Amino acid sequence: MANKSKILIGGTGYFGKFVVEASAKAGHPTFALVRESTVSDPAKGKLIENFKNLGVTILHGDICDHQSLVKAIKQVDVVVSTVGALQLADQTNIISAIKEAGNVKRFFPSEFGNDVDHVHAVEPAKSLHPPILLKSGGSKVTILGDGNVKAIFNKEDDIATYTIKAVDDPRTLNKTLLIMPPNNIYTSNELVALWEKKVGKAWRKVMFQKSSFLRISKGDQTNFEIDPSWGVEASELYPDVKYSTVDEMLDQLV
Ligand SMILES: NC(=O)c1ccc[n+]([C@@H]2O[C@H](COP(=O)([O-])OP(=O)(O)OC[C@H]3O[C@@H](n4cnc5c(N)ncnc54)[C@H](OP(=O)(O)O)[C@@H]3O)[C@@H](O)[C@H]2O)c1
Repeated sequence: MANKSKILIGGTGYFGKFVVEASAKAGHPTFALVRESTVSDPAKGKLIENFKNLGVTILHGDICDHQSLVKAIKQVDVVVSTVGALQLADQTNIISAIKEAGNVKRFFPSEFGNDVDHVHAVEPAKSLHPPILLKSGGSKVTILGDGNVKAIFNKEDDIATYTIKAVDDPRTLNKTLLIMPPNNIYTSNELVALWEKKVGKAWRKVMFQKSSFLRISKGDQTNFEIDPSWGVEASELYPDVKYSTVDEMLDQLV
């Protein structure tokens, strides 16, 4: 543990909890920033207890309270932000606190990709996540666009594992880390065909054309080549990680 970076994560959100767990399990001294008001929330209280059992240090702080952020950040080497979509702009508060603290070597902003450190987790849009895609409506499935565009499906804990792997890996410095495991790249039509094969029946397909707002349905997850000057692919970089494949994810639902 001596050589592993100390990591601060805003841990009580939907995605943050996976990152806290991955960090603690990888042996990093792990610190979770928790708002005082969150401790009294019964569900989140349980999460915090679980963090403590994993050896995570709980620090109280708020993205809107500069001094609390500086105090927490001074205790770590790396900050991973996992704020939700509505608070992306508030991350400038984290950057200000990092500058004042002066000891942080890497910052992983939320909405990976538009970030300082260029770490990009390509994740399934909620509506295309296999369980939701296939469970919607019982025997009917909604397909975005024409269903022929390739998208990438990753489980949250795998995204968290790869993110934590990147923390102390110089190969990812100033690079985009894309999570594009070859066994998890499917078009919606291929995904539905695989599901139909597993359950032995055809599903009614509802095409949802007005989805141009979803970058994923236009192929933005796969319509480019990774150039080594700016990017690395996670499953290539970390072949030791046994990621969940789409096939396995679907098997759990049959
Ligand atoms: N949702 C997904 O399926 C998913 C999957 C993969 C990646 N992601 C990515 O993960 C990131 C986070 O999304 P999410 O869905 O996990 O968001 P979320 O559930 O809304 O979590 C937001 C986090 O921000 C914290 N927060 C809110 N206001 C705060 C404040 N004033 N001070 C300190 N912390 C504050 C929340 O703390 P409290 O717990 O105290 O409210 C919570 O930990 C996004 O970049 C998203 O794209 C999401």
